[in-house]
Amino acid sequence: MMHSAINPFYSARIEPRRETPAPGRYAKLPLAPVNGSPVPHLTSLYHFDAAGEYGDRGYPGNCGGNLIRDLLRFFRPTTVLDPMTGSGTCRDVCRELGIQCWSSDLHQDVDACSPSAFPRGTFDFCWLHPPYWRQKLYTDDSRDLSRTPTLEAFLERYRQLIANCAESLAAGGRLAILMGDYCDRGAGFVPLVYHTKRLAFDAGLRQCCTDIIRFGHGASSSRKVYRSAFIPGLHDVCTVFEKQPG
Ligand SMILES: C[S@@+](CC[C@H](N)C(=O)[O-])C[C@H]1O[C@@H](n2cnc3c(N)ncnc32)[C@H](O)[C@@H]1O
Repeated sequence: MMHSAINPFYSARIEPRRETPAPGRYAKLPLAPVNGSPVPHLTSLYHFDAAGEYGDRGYPGNCGGNLIRDLLRFFRPTTVLDPMTGSGTCRDVCRELGIQCWSSDLHQDVDACSPSAFPRGTFDFCWLHPPYWRQKLYTDDSRDLSRTPTLEAFLERYRQLIANCAESLAAGGRLAILMGDYCDRGAGFVPLVYHTKRLAFDAGLRQCCTDIIRFGHGASSSRKVYRSAFIPGLHDVCTVFEKQPG
């Protein structure tokens, strides 16, 4: 059963925003250098507000498919692992591009943190979009990363998850992880992007291109009103790692 709730530790939400939100403001982006990329609009600033017709935008934590599509068009894998598929966004993109995709989720009783969940040394590319610890809760299953009771417990499960995905890659394969920092009411500011890199490096991976800062268009939090003062985080970060070529 799909289950979702706003984390009670996270927000000091008092009411939904009543007035019409101000229209989007425009930021001037730097010019990107012309280069041989097959996807020239894919730069370190992923600012497009269209999500694409992939997955289910109503699924909690849905990420929109256009960034996944652009990464797949850039790296051109022939096999993809999508171990936390949620509403199937990556699966739908792969179907459109004609790429073979292994897609699963805890909702189908596949625990991505288990070392036996996937074949080893197989995939050219892995798209990983895990829970941002307990910012959103996904299932009632105790194996759910969003249900880990402490940051330490989350990071230990996350370490297993990343190691597992690294093991599943063929030599030279890429692992793209979309992760965001957030402010947890119990633990304070949680730098999950930092932890992602640390754990990936510990698993023997190296970062193979720039961080991709994904603008958070359509985030549910942007429509809320908070009593507390804070600096809103309006992005998450996609980091692409590479397994050493054989
Ligand atoms: C951020 S959501 C992914 C959303 C997806 N990118 C989409 O666009 O719909 C994280 C997903 O991780 C799943 N999940 C949490 N713990 C898991 C585990 N141990 N094994 C497999 N999936 C897990 C949740 O059920 C949820 O669907």
